[in-house]
Amino acid sequence: MILVTGGAGFIGANFVLDWLATNEEPVVNIDKLTYAGNLHNLASLKGDARHVFVQGDIGDSALLSRLLQEHRPRAVVNFAAESHVDRSIHGPEDFIQTNVVGTFRLLESVRGYWNALPDAEKQGFRFLHVSTDEVYGSLAADAPAFTEDHLYEPNSPYSASKAASDHLVRAWHHTYGLPVLTTNCSNNYGPLHFPEKLIPLMIVNALAGKPLPIYGDGMQVRDWLYVKDHCSAIRRVLEGGRLGETYNVGGWNEKPNVEIVNTVCALLDELRPRADGQSYAGQITYVKDRPGHDRRYAIDARKLERELGWKPAETFESGIRKTVQWYLENPEWVAQVQSGAYRDWVQTQYASA
Ligand code: NAD
Ligand code: DAU
Repeated sequence: MILVTGGAGFIGANFVLDWLATNEEPVVNIDKLTYAGNLHNLASLKGDARHVFVQGDIGDSALLSRLLQEHRPRAVVNFAAESHVDRSIHGPEDFIQTNVVGTFRLLESVRGYWNALPDAEKQGFRFLHVSTDEVYGSLAADAPAFTEDHLYEPNSPYSASKAASDHLVRAWHHTYGLPVLTTNCSNNYGPLHFPEKLIPLMIVNALAGKPLPIYGDGMQVRDWLYVKDHCSAIRRVLEGGRLGETYNVGGWNEKPNVEIVNTVCALLDELRPRADGQSYAGQITYVKDRPGHDRRYAIDARKLERELGWKPAETFESGIRKTVQWYLENPEWVAQVQSGAYRDWVQTQYASA
């Protein structure tokens, strides 16, 4: 049994689905079901006894301690977080509560459980913290990609809260000996991505005939990784990572935002041409820049490749095509997340913890 937090969100749900598709080991999945948590993401697991879903907050120490005692997981994988940079700029409070205070409380619950384990189980236990490349700050155009030794220089409330959580995880290892692993990944994309983030927002806005807003000059660079490749990296680190180490995860796919948006438009032009025969690129509009917008992120993932033999399976070209196709084939998922109707569905499917 493993315990996953935030497993109804974009990456967490992809991870749970992949885990149970390739593995008999059950998963207990605790998620608060904020606006970003969606049990439709896990609908294919309905009736599968290997998946136990509990609606709850990682900051609820009593709930976490009870779940750990009851399910006795051999590992905890922490995805739960507030994840959207723009939201963190407009309202940082939830980011501090979940990403900092929530991670602290989760660490304390896990420490209490781990301390009481018999020696053999204690030895094998792992706490894997899922983090981001944004903790390293912004790279100059000609600077080498972020290695694990790069200084922490977070610039947004989101990245500062994630940096704080990484430091807590590190401290719980050094001070208490908790067997932790941390992964710092670049921008993910793929199925189940909430349409507030760049790629899914561009797909759903394009299809709805709405503007495609590019912040500032659109020359900010992000390093894109297909979500399933992030999931395979996490599994690899969980099984073979060295305790207390951090591993950068990325696919060597640096692209400026305008190129991403034009690629999405070109794929839609091919797969779902506009009725008027014009390109979706005509819907692009340049808007005011994000405050404090980091100019460039890029991940050096050689440590993960060297030590654990991990490599991404998708190229950006194959991954972005699959992604656009997935959104075209799942209009009901898009309608659900946009209408908020899935919240009503949640109440009929699962009881609160
Ligand atoms: P997401 O916003 O799609 O999902 C987050 C999930 O956490 C949601 O299901 C939400 O309901 C849940 N959650 C939020 N607060 C909670 C709380 N207090 N207790 C329990 N559950 C809570 O985010 P995502 O994009 O899937 O990101 C998952 C993790 O990966 C985050 O820690 C994020 O920082 C990290 N990450 C994301 C990316 C990316 O590109 N999306 C890249 C690197 C790292
Ligand atoms: O780098 C990893 C991070 O990637 C994760 O830790 C975060 O959880 C995740 O949200 C993501 O953060 P970004 O801010 O890079 O992702 P976002 O999709 O919000 O934006 C990607 C880029 O596109 C960024 O430079 C801002 C720009 N952008 C975004 C939106 C939503 C636009 O130009 N227009 C938009 O409408």
